[in-house]
Amino acid sequence: MSQTQLNDIKQKALKAFQAAQNSTELYNAKVQYLGKSGALTETMKLMATLPKEEKPQFGKLVNDVKTELEAFYSKAEDELKNKEINSQMESEKLDLTLPIDIQPLGSEHPIYKVTNEIFGIMARLGYALRTGPMIEKDYYNFEALNIPKNHPARDMQDTFFIDETHVLRTHTSPIQIHSLENEKPPLRVIGTGPVFRCDSDISHLPNFHQIEGMCVDEKVSMADLKGTISFFVKEFFGPGLKTRFRPSFFPFTEPSAEVDCSCPICKGKGCSLCKHTGWIEIGGCGLINPKVFEFAKVEYPKWQGFAFGFGVERMAIIKYGVDDIRLFPQNDVRFLKQF
Ligand code: PHE
Repeated sequence: MSQTQLNDIKQKALKAFQAAQNSTELYNAKVQYLGKSGALTETMKLMATLPKEEKPQFGKLVNDVKTELEAFYSKAEDELKNKEINSQMESEKLDLTLPIDIQPLGSEHPIYKVTNEIFGIMARLGYALRTGPMIEKDYYNFEALNIPKNHPARDMQDTFFIDETHVLRTHTSPIQIHSLENEKPPLRVIGTGPVFRCDSDISHLPNFHQIEGMCVDEKVSMADLKGTISFFVKEFFGPGLKTRFRPSFFPFTEPSAEVDCSCPICKGKGCSLCKHTGWIEIGGCGLINPKVFEFAKVEYPKWQGFAFGFGVERMAIIKYGVDDIRLFPQNDVRFLKQF
């Protein structure tokens, strides 16, 4: 092994290091020349065949070449690594001006919002919140409210029967009976929740919500009822809305009335939502029928009262000017996010 051969290996190695396009190629070149069975390592093994006096000098030469190649390698490695990092940063650049992927946030459903607003108004008049079961005993939904079995008044409400004695409650009025049975007058309660009727069109849902109010005290008149409802309606809709009380009939109130609000869509001119009457009915009311007190074992006429029941969806339609009640349960976010 001559010095020229050693020099030849060195030149070839330097060329290979220079030619490397990336750190993998460079590493492979290093293995080829400086690795365990690389060209330079092989020359070391040849030392054994040299005469004793030439060994130290040759050994030094090989070591010098090795040091030189290693220094060249680590410089080339640094350069290639830098180049690679730069090109990676270039190609994976983050565009901080891109719009972020915003997750839509949920919000209160308009029906929930309206219900809470109603609670707020009634709470200021001293009313406390009550609830009741959605599957009601026939007794609470009908009988105790003076709607006997086989009586034509039952036809007023298209009922989903569960079995002989249970129904999906058709109104929140059974909450009146629960309260009369479990609490002592004077009472001011407001009940709420879903109710169910076999009915569905532009202004009726089979599953809607009601707000029930009941006041029981020592001298309660129709004037108290009108005053309370007028205050409540004005607070909720604002002073611009027109309301009217229309004589009506409910087996559990006597006298009874229906409460109408002017139609927000046609402003009273007549449209399909208000069935061309200019008015939308929001619910019923009246003085509690003595028969109801009798069922609930509350002393009458010592205690007297009034009650009202309003449809929450109807109130929301009027407040927001929505022209189809069926939009509320559909839960289309394009509709819901407007509230
Ligand atoms: N429960 C009646 C209905 O759903 C409304 C009502 C409630 C009427 C209270 C009078 C008193 O139609």
